[in-house]
Amino acid sequence: MATTKSTQKSTPAKESTPARKSFTVPGVPLKEGQGLAEKLQMRLYALNDLHLTLKHAHWNILGPKFIGVHEMLDPQVEAVRAMVDVIAERMATMGVAPNGCPGALVENRTWDDYPIGQAQAAEHLGALDIVYSGIIEDHRALIEESEDIDLITQDMLIAQVAELEKFQWFIRAHMEDDAGKLATQGETSAEAAAKAALDADKKVD
Ligand SMILES: [Fe+2]
Repeated sequence: MATTKSTQKSTPAKESTPARKSFTVPGVPLKEGQGLAEKLQMRLYALNDLHLTLKHAHWNILGPKFIGVHEMLDPQVEAVRAMVDVIAERMATMGVAPNGCPGALVENRTWDDYPIGQAQAAEHLGALDIVYSGIIEDHRALIEESEDIDLITQDMLIAQVAELEKFQWFIRAHMEDDAGKLATQGETSAEAAAKAALDADKKVD
C-alpha cells in the first residue's frame, strides 16, 4: 500500500542549542567544559551526515570500478557511525545533551546535501574527497580550540581525524597519477571535483 507523505511526517527537532545540564567533567570549569561540548554538536551533525552520504555513494556507484569502491565504503560507514557515538557520549559526559535528530541536522548544517546521484565511481570519489576535506578541516579547527580547555576531548578529535585522513587517502589513491598529482587538486566544490576526477579517469582509460 502506498504511504502518503502526511502519514510519514513526524515532529522535527527544532532545538538548535543542545540543553546544558548542571555539571561537566571534574577539573574543567563548568562554562568552558559545556561550551566545548556544545561545539561538539556540529561535529556530531557533520559525521552523521558523512556516514549517510557514504552509504548513498555506496549504493549509487556505476562502472567497472564499482565493486572495489562499493566495498571500500562500508567499513568507512561503520567507523564514522562509531565516531558519532563517541562524540555524543562525550557531550553527555561533559554536561550537554547531544542532538541526533535528522531535522535538527538539516536545520543547523552549514553545508549542502551531497550533489551526486547515480554516477561513475570517479565522480563519487572526486566529490567524497571534497566532503572529507571539509570535515577534516573543521575537526582540526576544534582540536585547536580544545587545546586549553580539555585534552581528553582534544585526544578524541585527534584520533578521529587520524582515521578520517586515512579514509580520505583511500579515496585519493584512486585519483592520483604517477607523479603524485591528485585529479581533484585545487577544486573546492564537490561538483567540480567530481567532473575533474571523471575527466582524469577518462584519460587513463
Ligand atoms: Fe551494501
